[in-house]
Amino acid sequence: MKVISICIDQLKPGMILAEDLRDSPTGIVLLSSGSKITEKTLRAIEQFNVQGRCLVYFADQNRTFTESSLKKIRQEKNKQIPVRIGKINLQAKKLYKDTYKTVKDFYNKSSMNKTVDLYEINKAAESIAAEITRSPQVLLQLAFLKTIDDYTFSHAVHVSIYVTALAKYINFPAKQLHEICLAGLLHDVGKVDIPLHIVNKPEKLSDEEFEVMKEHVRYSFNRVRDFSGVSKDMLNAILQHHERMDGSGYLEKLKGSEIHHWARLLAIADVYDAITTDRVYRNALLPHEGAEILMSNSGKLDIQYLNIFIRNMIFYPVGCKVVLSTGEIGTVISLHRNMPLRPLVQIVDKDSKKTHTINLVNNLTTFITDIIKE
Ligand SMILES: [Fe+2]
Repeated sequence: MKVISICIDQLKPGMILAEDLRDSPTGIVLLSSGSKITEKTLRAIEQFNVQGRCLVYFADQNRTFTESSLKKIRQEKNKQIPVRIGKINLQAKKLYKDTYKTVKDFYNKSSMNKTVDLYEINKAAESIAAEITRSPQVLLQLAFLKTIDDYTFSHAVHVSIYVTALAKYINFPAKQLHEICLAGLLHDVGKVDIPLHIVNKPEKLSDEEFEVMKEHVRYSFNRVRDFSGVSKDMLNAILQHHERMDGSGYLEKLKGSEIHHWARLLAIADVYDAITTDRVYRNALLPHEGAEILMSNSGKLDIQYLNIFIRNMIFYPVGCKVVLSTGEIGTVISLHRNMPLRPLVQIVDKDSKKTHTINLVNNLTTFITDIIKE
């Protein structure tokens, strides 16, 4: 099949990528080689401000994994089970805020090479794991709202919530939930050893800078291994969180089962939070757009864990206001347990004040285009 090189801004729906398309500053693969370009992915590429050229070929007959897997998810006919999320309780909110402060303190002290111990951050991990064991939904909702916008520290908090919730859905025992949560809080602590002009650079990193950036994984590992009581699983999760299933990651270019399964969970949480958070150089993707990017990374991320993540995350909490592609504004009133990306939305007519509901599971041409955060 013919492969051509075109400018990224000339990509059109229907084209098939012949190479991975990456978000330059983070190196995250936005779309894998073989992905078919759609209107939605074009929007994501635009938001990520990806520039330069890429290789594509045209192939209508090639159905990509992304498309077929998403279709499969959409076609799952599950009973609509309302998942009610009450008002966020103050205790969980306090835990979220306190964890943020603890992480900030730990990272700041680490960057100044002050003596640090794991006591506080370990206690925070224990509390998050306990809260998620009771119910993952409250903390997931807080992670969704992303009320903390200091990326370095909020990323650690959100990743720890996502990875612990995912581990809970896989039925990890309590002790391991606590440990993987701690791995989530500490996975990027080695970034304090990377020069700030590289960590905070809004433009694309040069090849040399990216090589320096990659080292944060080794630095995180080195910093964490010196603490007593840190498990091998935790260290492997941290050391391998940028490895990818197809061998395209770093530091060791490990493949498939060579990658520790905790690191595979951490990779999903890490990528999802990175792409759904506002950064200096681009706006956040909407939750469902983030989920689609994850699915398009299915060759890179563990597909079984990814499916569990997509099925269980809270992309649109009950009560959340959304804008539909029809232009209507509605409120999410219930979620499908296995299809959280296609909720039931209630619309109030402006004039008559009458309400009607749209079930997005049955209206596949209607989709959420925005979230209104109040
Ligand atoms: Fe990282």
